Parts: sequence; C-alpha cells; structure tokens
Amino acid sequence: MVGLASDELMEGRMKLALLSSAILLLVSTGLSAEPLETGDPQEGFVYAKEVCANCHAILPDQSSPVREAPTFDDIADRSGGSAKAVIQRIKAEHPMMPNIPIGPEELNDLAAYIVDLDTPAAPGHP
Ligand code: HEC
Repeated sequence: MVGLASDELMEGRMKLALLSSAILLLVSTGLSAEPLETGDPQEGFVYAKEVCANCHAILPDQSSPVREAPTFDDIADRSGGSAKAVIQRIKAEHPMMPNIPIGPEELNDLAAYIVDLDTPAAPGHP
C-alpha cells in the first residue's frame, strides 16, 4: 500500500518535472522571439510597392526614383537586421517625406520585408 502510494507520488513528480520543463522551454523560446508580432514580408512587399515605391527603391540593386529617399536596402543596412529599428525609422520624422498613415499590421509587414532585404537567404525574399 505504502509502496504503491510512493510510486504514484514519484510518477506525479516526474510528470510535474516534465511539465515544468516543457513550460520553461515555451517561455524561453517565447522570450527569444521578437517582442513585436512578426509581420509577413510578402504582404510588406505588396504594400511597399503600392505606397512607398513611388519614391523609394524597394528592391535591392535599384536606385530610388526620388534621389533623396534612401533605398529600402539602405534602410535595412542602417537598421542592423532589427525589425524594431526599421519601425522606429519609419515612424521617425522625415521632413521631405509625406506623413503616410500606416497601420500597426502594415508596419510589421513592412519591417519584416525590409529586414529580409538584408537576409537574402530568408524565405519570402522576392
Ligand atoms: C513622396 C515620396 C515618398 C514616399 C511615398 C515615401 N517616402 Fe520614405 N522618404 C522619402 C524621402 C525623400 C526620404 C529622405 C528624406 C527625409 O528624411 O525626409 C524618406 C525617408 C524615409 C525613411 C528614413 C530612412 C532613414 O535612414 O531613417 C524611411 C524609413 C522611409 N522613408 C520609409 C518609407 C516607407 C516605409 C514608405 C511607404 C509606406 C515611404 N517611405 C514612402 C520620400 C518618400
């Protein structure tokens, strides 16, 4: 009787240990991901083509239609592969750029697309 009870206890402890390591794994992978929701680079590309491409080169190895506008490749370089930095650059004041209202989802998509420009092997790279 006592033996059985402690076996059950052991089993319970094992399960608990397994469960807590699974939770730990979930938490740590969650922490290493971007704190922002990751955007969809394909969507970002479509949006950029519609809204930004009049002035900015949105593909690598092109020059911008508006000479003062940095290429998206440049913006990727300057942001060091960080979507957060790209978003900050987009949100920053640009005296020569019209204020385009960009929704948070579009912003994430754009950032994902621009970051991918600096990561040629990334999936979704056009
Ligand atoms: C009417 C032309 C025009 C359009 C449209 C436009 N831009 Fe710009 N953008 C510029 C110019 C010119 C500059 C550089 C001068 C300045 O800072 O004002 C610039 C600067 C920027 C910068 C700053 C670069 C840096 O190094 O920090 C970012 C980021 C940017 N644009 C993103 C975008 C995105 C994303 C879109 C589309 C949603 C967009 N722009 C649409 C003209 C434009």
